[in-house]
Amino acid sequence: MDYLKIRPATIDDIDMVIAINIECLPEHYPLNFWLEHLEKWGDIFYVAELNNEIVGYVLSRVEEGHSHFKSKHIKMGHIVSVAVRSRFRRKGIATYMIIALLETLKFAYSAEEAFLEVRTSNEPAIKLYEKLGFITIKKLSQYYLDGEDALLMAKAL
Ligand code: ACO
Ligand code: ZN
Repeated sequence: MDYLKIRPATIDDIDMVIAINIECLPEHYPLNFWLEHLEKWGDIFYVAELNNEIVGYVLSRVEEGHSHFKSKHIKMGHIVSVAVRSRFRRKGIATYMIIALLETLKFAYSAEEAFLEVRTSNEPAIKLYEKLGFITIKKLSQYYLDGEDALLMAKAL
């Protein structure tokens, strides 16, 4: 039987998380970026472990800013990077990780919203976020280094 565990990342996971990021996404980060996130936001940096193997991660941080839905200043979770290795996709793993993350953002950080940016061409990810209740706030023109636009998506928690 398959055994899936969603848990906070540890230093021992970082090499695998970086490998998954490189394998799955065009946006890469230096080692320090990952280590700083682990130190500051380790409880909202999740990995998915399937049968003792890391198959995905979601990295986030908490920021303050203007609500996407109301006229006020709030704490919000910024989902920076999510990936699941291709052969483990469509099993609900990203969904489980993001649901766990949204719970922690709301109850441990009192974040009132979560938001993220996603490439306009990234249909699987956009579908995933819509299914989780995120809505498109606006298009961010030429957001990525290669000139592609992003959708800014947000969800009230
Ligand atoms: N086509 C259409 N809909 C999809 C697809 C797809 N290929 N993949 C997921 N979805 C939608 C479906 O509605 C799906 O539900 P269903 O399977 O019941 O139809 C729902 O999303 C949930 O899918 P999960 O199984 O939870 O998602 P998965 O574990 O496969 O991971 C992810 C999705 C993270 C987008 C994965 O495809 C991936 O790693 N892609 C490459 C990296 C990437 O694009 N990351 C997001 C970038 S944006 C950012 O990081 C903020
Ligand atoms: Zn972002």
